[in-house]
Amino acid sequence: MQVLVAYESRGGRTRRAAEAVADAVRICGSEATVKTLKDTTAEDVDRSDAIAIGCWVEGFVFFKVGPAKAALAELELLPALGGKPAAVFCTYAFNPRTTLATLRKSLETKGAKVVVQNASPRSHPDRGATELAEHICAPLKKS
Ligand SMILES: Cc1cc2nc3c(=O)[nH]c(=O)nc-3n(C[C@H](O)[C@H](O)[C@H](O)COP(=O)(O)O)c2cc1C
Repeated sequence: MQVLVAYESRGGRTRRAAEAVADAVRICGSEATVKTLKDTTAEDVDRSDAIAIGCWVEGFVFFKVGPAKAALAELELLPALGGKPAAVFCTYAFNPRTTLATLRKSLETKGAKVVVQNASPRSHPDRGATELAEHICAPLKKS
């Protein structure tokens, strides 16, 4: 089973979160590929049985807080996700607010079935990675 972990990171924290998710997926017994959203191709999506998408929170602290705009633009370019199980995650400094809900909606619009979400503070980007990986791998084990 192959899980694609794709992320958008400016300062490296979300990259660390993505690597933690991939490590946890491997511990669950599945294979994981980590890529930036920008470098993710239609073939990467086709090859994967499940997808985890992560980004950082962007806003003006309390205004217009949501997924990094670059991440939403890159997600738009992905091909249809055809009912694949998916996870969304983000890293934040203050409060992620509706970031995960927006990210989730964007993936669902592409046809993914989002089964789990996690927001980690930038001080602990790997927090919640194990639980997220266990949820994303569970439907794969059943099939
Ligand atoms: C331009 C900019 C705007 C940000 N706005 C917010 C915000 O509104 N709320 C928040 O919780 N964190 C905000 N952050 C913090 C980042 O989401 C956080 O540091 C994140 O972990 C960065 O991830 P990265 O290292 O992968 O780029 C902002 C960071 C930047 C650079």
